[in-house]
Amino acid sequence: MKTVRVNLGARSYDIRIGRSGPAEPLHVFPKTAKVLIVTDTNVDALYGEACEQAWRAAGAAAARAVLPAGETAKTLANLEVLYERAAEHGLDRASLVVALGGGVVGDVAGFMAATYMRGIGFWQIPTTLLAMVDSSVGGKTGVNLKQGKNLVGAFHQPLGVVADVSALTTLPERDYVSGLAEVAKYGVIRDADLLETLAAGADRLKARDPVFLEDAIARCCEIKADVVANDERESGLRELLNFGHTMGHALEQADGYTRWRHGEAVAMGMVYAARLSAAETGLPEKDVRRLEELLALLGLPTAPGPEVHGVDWETLRVAMGSDKKSRGQKPRFVLAERLGQARVGCDVSESVMRRVYGEWMGS
Ligand code: GLY
Repeated sequence: MKTVRVNLGARSYDIRIGRSGPAEPLHVFPKTAKVLIVTDTNVDALYGEACEQAWRAAGAAAARAVLPAGETAKTLANLEVLYERAAEHGLDRASLVVALGGGVVGDVAGFMAATYMRGIGFWQIPTTLLAMVDSSVGGKTGVNLKQGKNLVGAFHQPLGVVADVSALTTLPERDYVSGLAEVAKYGVIRDADLLETLAAGADRLKARDPVFLEDAIARCCEIKADVVANDERESGLRELLNFGHTMGHALEQADGYTRWRHGEAVAMGMVYAARLSAAETGLPEKDVRRLEELLALLGLPTAPGPEVHGVDWETLRVAMGSDKKSRGQKPRFVLAERLGQARVGCDVSESVMRRVYGEWMGS
């Protein structure tokens, strides 16, 4: 088991990363009177009972609230269901919410914990790779409106995170591979050696080797913990975590979040951002190719290809301009100066954005 500390003063917490088993205190929780475990139908069937048992072992009267699986569950309506379930179960300010699942469950349950009785404690128990390396850490919580994703939310740090790598054995292949895009992202923004490790260990990654995964996830969490500790509320540095997300979100939004998994869109967005970087910050072309080759090796798409038909440049351009990090419809990119080092808040001229897009689509 590995432990990564997120240093945020009084709101500091540990991320425990490991494999469940009798030898590891992975699922050992603090003594608590009442707990509401929020999960979804898929995860509940696999891990709901075991999670409840683990909290009972900590003396908690634990109950479960089960949301429908999928992004469409991130609604204000589901929050109301959760608040009522919490009140029925008698949760008070000393009680805990536990988010057991992927990013959707973590975001909704986290926001519910941030607002129920003006805020109670919560734990994150991520069961997807994406949630283990990204959404469960750092305290972003929220729900979607029909006008856009995550438009209502709060920063609310968990009291602890438990990433049980064993849970990845049951993750559908496409979701697992999609999560690898966020893993590679950490290499681009902070750790070129991680990219080498991923390339050299691609077979072990594809086989979901738990030892390899434990190390890789811990490294991603170390990087995220450091970024969040230095810019919890995203006034600058934290935007690094959005490398590849400007085009990635635009691709997702342009087809109504139907075609691409988030990580697939981010993989393509990282290639676009790397190509922009070559034009703007001097990222060597060979490093752009290295990144493209790694993503392809991991089974990720590197360009939208024919699937983007029906979505023109203007649609993507408008979608990039409506990103939360944009200013006055002008997208601001995270660009790599070299592999392992990136810069936030980069303006790119319309002509360069367009030219690089054309070259990318033609490749
Ligand atoms: N997922 C990006 C962040 O946590 O800031």
